[in-house]
Amino acid sequence: MPFPAAFIDELIARNPIDEVVGQYVQLKRSGANYFGLCPFHGEKTASFSVAPNKQMYYCFGCHKGGGVINFIMEIEGLSYPDAVRFLAKRVNLEVPEDEQYQSQYKEQERLWRLCKDAAKFYHDMLKSDAGKAARAYLVKRGLDWQTVVKFGMGFAPDDYHALIPAMERKGYSREELVAANLAAVSPKNPQNVYDRFRNRVMFPQIDLRGNIIGFAGRALDKDAKAKYINPTETLIFSKRKFLYAMNLAKKSKRPYIILCEGPMDAIACHQFGFDCAVASQGTALTEDQVNIISKYTDQVIMTYDNDAAGQNATQRAIQMFGRAGVRVKILQLHDAKDADEFLHKFGADPFEVLIQGSENQADYRLLSLQKQFDLSKDEQRVEFTAQAAELISGFKSAVEREIYADRAAKAAGISKDAMLLEVGKAFKKRLWREKKQKERQDLAPAAAKLPADRRLRSEYTNTRSAAAEEAVIGLALLEPALLDQAGELTGEAFSVAFLGRAFDALRQLHRQGLRASLGALQDFSPEESSQLSAISRRFDRVNDERAFTDCVAVILEEHRKKNESNSDADLLAFSRTLKKNKGYGGM
Ligand code: UTP
Ligand code: MN
Repeated sequence: MPFPAAFIDELIARNPIDEVVGQYVQLKRSGANYFGLCPFHGEKTASFSVAPNKQMYYCFGCHKGGGVINFIMEIEGLSYPDAVRFLAKRVNLEVPEDEQYQSQYKEQERLWRLCKDAAKFYHDMLKSDAGKAARAYLVKRGLDWQTVVKFGMGFAPDDYHALIPAMERKGYSREELVAANLAAVSPKNPQNVYDRFRNRVMFPQIDLRGNIIGFAGRALDKDAKAKYINPTETLIFSKRKFLYAMNLAKKSKRPYIILCEGPMDAIACHQFGFDCAVASQGTALTEDQVNIISKYTDQVIMTYDNDAAGQNATQRAIQMFGRAGVRVKILQLHDAKDADEFLHKFGADPFEVLIQGSENQADYRLLSLQKQFDLSKDEQRVEFTAQAAELISGFKSAVEREIYADRAAKAAGISKDAMLLEVGKAFKKRLWREKKQKERQDLAPAAAKLPADRRLRSEYTNTRSAAAEEAVIGLALLEPALLDQAGELTGEAFSVAFLGRAFDALRQLHRQGLRASLGALQDFSPEESSQLSAISRRFDRVNDERAFTDCVAVILEEHRKKNESNSDADLLAFSRTLKKNKGYGGM
């Protein structure tokens, strides 16, 4: 449900974008704009820009952009309504809430508070007499007390009714404890509600805003049924979107993120100075998690376990990160089963060395390919050779191709020359494919300006109209008064649907006497907002008012043409069916 436009207008006015962004990014003024290092992708030269006059930001590197609300959504990892609330709170502005939304939000807030109180309870337990064994366990696992505090770790006593009465005394109900997954209801006797975590070391799950949203618990005794009890879905916890320790890792100065399997691994990394470590906690990596990571870095170091499950998960992750434009390095830990064990056994320096030189994807991919074949069988060797050639032909440098061809040849038991011949063939095919692809791109005139997002790009079918549409939007964002000169144009006449929606929304705002800015647009996806700011970035001056009306005319003209050709096509189709029905055929 959208917020009232007047409220959003006020919100944006009170949260100047340069001021808000300035709290996250060091900005330098240059002319009318500010520049800085993009917080959404790693870079060394400043390609991130903020235009206060348009109340928008845009990165020329990663093509992310939008208004101040988009910025907060992106950098704080919030939904649209939560980003609005965040900015409202920043300037003490009251949010007009939809009633249903408000009650859900109240419930969320209550569960956040409950989890915080529970974390405090567990932490106090760890410090108390009851936590003696747990403390000893943590010492045995090599954790400093400082680390324990940093992660807010705690201890759930070996008691079915410890947390519940403590939280009841604080005014929480059993229903709330169950809703937060801190208590469970006995299936046999619904009257019996008991503590879900018992005799476990507790790991609070902290989201990007610093709220505690759930817990994982590790068993102290080896014979416990489950080594780990992980947090499950609740109103405030979504497994799919959560990465353990991301709240800390996002502040790291290191240019990469270390992705581990378990919380103990991530914690060990932090203790040894690798403050960019996060953990997926034994679940398969999700697209959402990949997206979160890709907002903070373009390089991931993976340290999943050395077992088969870990290696499979690694393969999958490489592909998912690849699609998100994130490079992956695999850390091969020798003589240790995971990062935690490695660090405590060998220390930080060898770990750093491993990271710096960690086996690259080429190595890893060739080895994994090799493992899929039984190379004692001839036909499998042939198939392996073909696939290895294809893989190697994609490597950038000739030296690399040479080295890996040699390695693959040895594995397949063929001569290096034969392998190189195969690689050469695959390489030629690849060049040809790339050439064809480039030709196709060159045919599309505005290719360089097309949206980075694939789905949006597919909407740009009429390039003449699209160029005019972008100009209309770009100029209107620069000088909303131009919207008065748009005459009979409506969004419906636009060939690119989201540009049409933007046009209608901007004109609506303008007619209401509100500022027609990018930040005031509601219900646009991050990709759409990014493209809108990319467009806006290209229009810095209104040189000629006629340009605007000319473009309006082009859109209307193209729209008319399309309608005519549609009716032409209808006529043609109609005459065809007539002929067919009358048995004429063969026209
Ligand atoms: P591991 O068995 O490798 O545990 O499982 P670990 O990380 O080394 O844990 P420690 O060092 O013994 O404490 C890897 C991850 O899989 C998940 C946990 O997140 C764990 O960290 N897991 C494991 C579960 O969810 N449930 C389990 O019963 C076991
Ligand atoms: Mn471990």
